[in-house]
Amino acid sequence: MSVRRLADDSVQPASFAFSEENAAWAEKTIRKYPEGRQQSAVIPLLMRAQEQDGWVTKAAIEMIADMLGMAYIRVLEVATFYTQFQLGPVGTRAHIQVCGTTPCMLRGSEDLMAVCKSKIHPHPHHLNADGTLSWEEVECLGACVNAPMVAIFKDTYEDLTPRQLEYIIERFEAGRPEDVKPGPQIDRISSAPFGGLKTLTSEDAAPATAVAPKKAKAEAPKAEPAAVEAKAEEKADDKKADAKPSLDDPNRPAGIEKPATPDDLKMISGVGPKIEGTLQSLGIYTFAQIAAWKAEERAWVDSYLNFRGRIDRDEWVKQAEVLARGGEEEYLKVFGKKPR
Ligand code: FES
Repeated sequence: MSVRRLADDSVQPASFAFSEENAAWAEKTIRKYPEGRQQSAVIPLLMRAQEQDGWVTKAAIEMIADMLGMAYIRVLEVATFYTQFQLGPVGTRAHIQVCGTTPCMLRGSEDLMAVCKSKIHPHPHHLNADGTLSWEEVECLGACVNAPMVAIFKDTYEDLTPRQLEYIIERFEAGRPEDVKPGPQIDRISSAPFGGLKTLTSEDAAPATAVAPKKAKAEAPKAEPAAVEAKAEEKADDKKADAKPSLDDPNRPAGIEKPATPDDLKMISGVGPKIEGTLQSLGIYTFAQIAAWKAEERAWVDSYLNFRGRIDRDEWVKQAEVLARGGEEEYLKVFGKKPR
């Protein structure tokens, strides 16, 4: 976590003024609070100043303090406490806030920061060459279930892989943020389980204390037959997705005998010690094997690991091909970061 200080005097403008429209809005906002409580408007006013100029300047802090009858130090305390307030110039197209708190860190936020370092600037709070992008590490942004995640202005982008973050940064840099949908970047709604419900999928599974069963049953509206059918199909699909494919399936990738020095498959982003063990149990020991997987083979392994598309999303084949070709050095060249 960085120390939060006002930007250097060399970049501070001499004065600040709300635009006509924002000044009218600020007056109206201040009037919402009872006499003597005007300082309650400090956060909305600081946020509006930031939205107007891109960041909170010293002149803006002083002017807002004057408007609210507060000591400068009190407004400075608020501005420096909340990471929502930017205390120095940020990218005109995107300022990426990467959550680095424990759940996000355990799920790969360090890899996301490596992407920011390579695509924006090696150091946080610095602009890229065009002045369009900047980044910083922040504390928990409250979307831990969907870790790792980043915030860009008022939106969050969750369940990220480094490749997805690269794409998001590229779209913002190109001035096309509408190409990326905020929220989870995988198959889930909000923070519902990945791939659909995993528990309490039927009335029978509900805890006995949750409802008075008889009354609830009597009052429950009858489901339309079509809805019942759709639900049954959905359940069947879920079961199908969860079922492991047969080991005799012709699409299972061919295994080999364990070589004297197997490759460290954990260098592939998305492969941890457990997955590596499973792959080895299938006779997969080298990058070259994974690099040669065809679509059907990827689908078989994906289904065997119950990954639901993660192998393609994390680009295992491309990563493996690069590692097989030139090891760590080539990986750094292609992906802009070291393999794990
Ligand atoms: S730890 Fe990252 S959002 Fe909470």
